[in-house]
Amino acid sequence: MTNPSDHPRRSLYLDAMGIQEWARRDETASKLPAASVPDPAPVSAVRAGQMGSDVATLDWEPLCERVLACTQCALHKGRTQAVFGVGNRQAQWMIIGEAPGADEDRQGEPFVGRAGKLLNNMLLAVGLKREEVYIANIVKCRPPNNRDPQPEEAQSCEPYLQRQIELIKPKLILALGRIAAQNLLKSTEAVGVLRGKRLNYGDTGIPLVVTYHPAYLLRSPREKRKAWHDLQLARAIVAASSS
Ligand code: URA
Repeated sequence: MTNPSDHPRRSLYLDAMGIQEWARRDETASKLPAASVPDPAPVSAVRAGQMGSDVATLDWEPLCERVLACTQCALHKGRTQAVFGVGNRQAQWMIIGEAPGADEDRQGEPFVGRAGKLLNNMLLAVGLKREEVYIANIVKCRPPNNRDPQPEEAQSCEPYLQRQIELIKPKLILALGRIAAQNLLKSTEAVGVLRGKRLNYGDTGIPLVVTYHPAYLLRSPREKRKAWHDLQLARAIVAASSS
């Protein structure tokens, strides 16, 4: 993995995110801002059992088959295909978005549209190729007209994502946008409150950083600088856990 801080042409990384100028911040894990949001309630593996299934015990291939055939919520009626997730199953970084859009529904892969291109560039900005991370969504099927997933849809899909997280055991979860952040943290706070600090995924001890959704950054490019800081924070957390 390359480290853009050491890279002689690091401005290329920032260009990739569309940030023109920046101030260097030597962030180390010891300097990271402490979470001011209380830890959420424990994420219980028992919830997986509420689906009346053995999802919590499935390995990758049966899990994928289960997702592709899932009819647990109404979203399956409008999908072309379920979008399971993509990437390195031994990834240090797990990236979690909201739901497939039209492009993802068609291609069966998360973040392949415009937001996906920006996500790829955001990852490059911290020296990561898309293939090095694992990318998934809170719900696996496209909501009609790209509306937000409903709480019951997210809840019904949760065991699948929970199992993916258990199998990968990432060193960091990066939650993209409000829907991902609020569902993963069981919080109702806004992204502006949740971002920029180290949080945890339930009681797993897996560090979780919230940042803006790339689709939002396409609409509000001035927020890219904050997203850049979130990515730096995430990178420092992973580096600290590897040293
Ligand atoms: N937005 C998301 O949150 N996920 C995708 O897969 C695509 C767009």
